Amino acid sequence: MRVIEIREPGAPAVLQPAIAACPRPGPGEVLIRVAAAGVNRPDCLQRRGLYPPPPGASPIPGLEVAGVVAATGAGVEGLQPGARVCALLAGGGYAEFCLAPAAQCLPVPAGLSLVEAAAVPETFFTVWTNVFERGRLQPGESLLVHGGASGIGTTAIQLARALGARVFATAGNDEKVALCEGLGAQRAIDYHEEAFADVVREATGGRGVDVILDIVGGRYLEANLDALASDGRLVIIGLLGGAHGKLPLATLLNRRLTITGSTLRAREVAEKGRIAAALRARVWPLLENGSVAPVLQASFPLEEAARAHEILEANAAMGKLVLVVNPAP
Ligand SMILES: NC(=O)c1ccc[n+]([C@@H]2O[C@H](COP(=O)([O-])OP(=O)(O)OC[C@H]3O[C@@H](n4cnc5c(N)ncnc54)[C@H](OP(=O)(O)O)[C@@H]3O)[C@@H](O)[C@H]2O)c1
Repeated sequence: MRVIEIREPGAPAVLQPAIAACPRPGPGEVLIRVAAAGVNRPDCLQRRGLYPPPPGASPIPGLEVAGVVAATGAGVEGLQPGARVCALLAGGGYAEFCLAPAAQCLPVPAGLSLVEAAAVPETFFTVWTNVFERGRLQPGESLLVHGGASGIGTTAIQLARALGARVFATAGNDEKVALCEGLGAQRAIDYHEEAFADVVREATGGRGVDVILDIVGGRYLEANLDALASDGRLVIIGLLGGAHGKLPLATLLNRRLTITGSTLRAREVAEKGRIAAALRARVWPLLENGSVAPVLQASFPLEEAARAHEILEANAAMGKLVLVVNPAP
C-alpha cells in the first residue's frame, strides 16, 4: 500500500511516499480503506522527533482518517466491511489502509463527505475531553480559546457556542479574528494588538472567564490566570509558547483556580472509546443538524503531505488540512 513515511526526524521534506505491507486487524481492530486523513499539529511534532508514537502504534504519521471498513478482527461487533467510518488513531493515518480499534470508530456523520469527516476525530475528541470533561464547561459559562483559528480552536469555538457557552478567542491576524467571530466567538482578540486578559476582563465586567483552552503554555501562564474568574479552570493542551512559565500562586489560592492538562494520544483504548460514546451521544447530532462543522481549509493528495506540514508550521492554516488518499473508495 502507499504510505507517507518519516525518513528521519526533520523538516517537512523528510515526509516521503513509500510502499509498505498492508496491516492485518488484530482482536478488536478494524482495517480501514482510507479515503482521507486529517493533518494535525502533533503530526509535525512527531515528524521532528518530539512526539514519538506510543508503544505498539504505527510509526506512520496520521491521527485520524475517514474511509470504509475493509475487514474486521476477532471480537468486533456492530461494524461490518463496507461501513463508512471516521476514526481516531494512535498513528498510521497517512496510508491507503490503516488499523483502528473498533471502539475509536464512529459513523461518518450524515451530510458530511468522507473528506470532511476525516477532519473531525482528533479535534473533536480533544476538545470534548478537555473543555467539557476536564474543564467542566457548563451552559451559561464563558470560555476563552487560544489559537481560535486553529483546527482545535475552530472546533472549540463552535462546540462551546452550540452547547450554550459564551466564547472568546485569540488569533494572530485580522482574517483569523474574523473567522473566529464568524464561528460564534462573541469577541476574538488579535494578541499582537491587545492584551487578551485585559480585553476578557473588560468584556466580562471584571469577572474573567470560567474556562480557558490553552495551546500556548508557558508564555501565557500568568496572563491566563489573570483572565480567569473565581473557581476558573485552565486546561493546557499545547506548549507552542514553551513548557515553563511563571505561576502566581497567590492568584491560584485567592481565586480557587484549577490548572490541568492532558494529551490524547497515549490514553488507553477504553478511555478513547468512552470519549467516542460521549461524542456520538452529545456531538454527532450537532454535526448532523449542521450546528457545528469541521472547518476545512484545503485538501492535498497524500503525496503532498510535506506541503500540508509547511502550511501548518508557518501558522498559515485556518481550520483543518486534509490529505486525500483515495477519492472514491
Ligand atoms: N493535548 C492534546 O491531546 C492535543 C491534541 C491535538 C492538538 N493539540 C495541540 O493543540 C495545538 C493546536 O493544534 P492544531 O492541530 O489545531 O494546530 P494548527 O491548526 O496548526 O494551529 C496552531 C495555531 O496556533 C497558533 N500559534 C502557533 N504558535 C503560537 C505561539 N507561539 N503563540 C500563540 N499562538 C501560536 C497559530 O495561530 P495564530 O496565527 O492565531 O497565532 C497557529 O496557526 C497544538 O499545540 C497541538 O499540539 C493537543
